[in-house]
Amino acid sequence: MKTIVAICGSLRPGSSNHNLLRAAAEAAPSDTLITWVDWKDISIFDDMSPASDQVLAIAAQINQADAVMIASPEYNWSIPGGLKNLLDWLSRVGYNPFENKPTLIMGTSPGKLGTARMQPHLRQVMGHFKAALIDEPEVAIGNSGSVFDSNGDLIDQAACQVVEQAMSKLVAAIN
Ligand SMILES: Cc1cc2nc3c(=O)[nH]c(=O)nc-3n(C[C@H](O)[C@H](O)[C@H](O)COP(=O)(O)O)c2cc1C
Repeated sequence: MKTIVAICGSLRPGSSNHNLLRAAAEAAPSDTLITWVDWKDISIFDDMSPASDQVLAIAAQINQADAVMIASPEYNWSIPGGLKNLLDWLSRVGYNPFENKPTLIMGTSPGKLGTARMQPHLRQVMGHFKAALIDEPEVAIGNSGSVFDSNGDLIDQAACQVVEQAMSKLVAAIN
């Protein structure tokens, strides 16, 4: 059994990026366990306080997993502050939970660029963590208002195909 950790950059109920992660989870092989990172209660990083038990638990969750997938919105052309705050905390837990970890970055947005302006920023940060980033295909899914149905299921054929290809790459990177 392989484990893939899912990190969503949006806390919003009904988040399209959460739904994108759900689609990716469904594209994973049946012998894959998906675990979800719950970061909604972590504090703002201040470089004074020690990492909380919750942050340490998230770091362990990532460290013990075989791979990571992140789906995030683009806020103001960049990484949402909440996700960056989580990553800043995870850089100060005494070890690097992402080192050499196969990692897939994805995103979806209502516009046509589908988080294409955010993803290079997130790639830069994850590069600093020395995560083993999946280079292609780029999973930047535009038109989130129409590629998901009312249940939040990804229904656009082309988008489904890109997610399947990316997940194959992620799983291959584990093996
Ligand atoms: C503070 C804020 C900033 C945003 N900035 C951008 C942006 O720069 N580019 C973009 O495509 N969408 C932007 N959006 C719209 C988001 O893409 C949209 O709300 C998206 O659905 C959020 O993802 P979610 O459905 O996973 O919560 C912004 C939304 C918020 C709340």
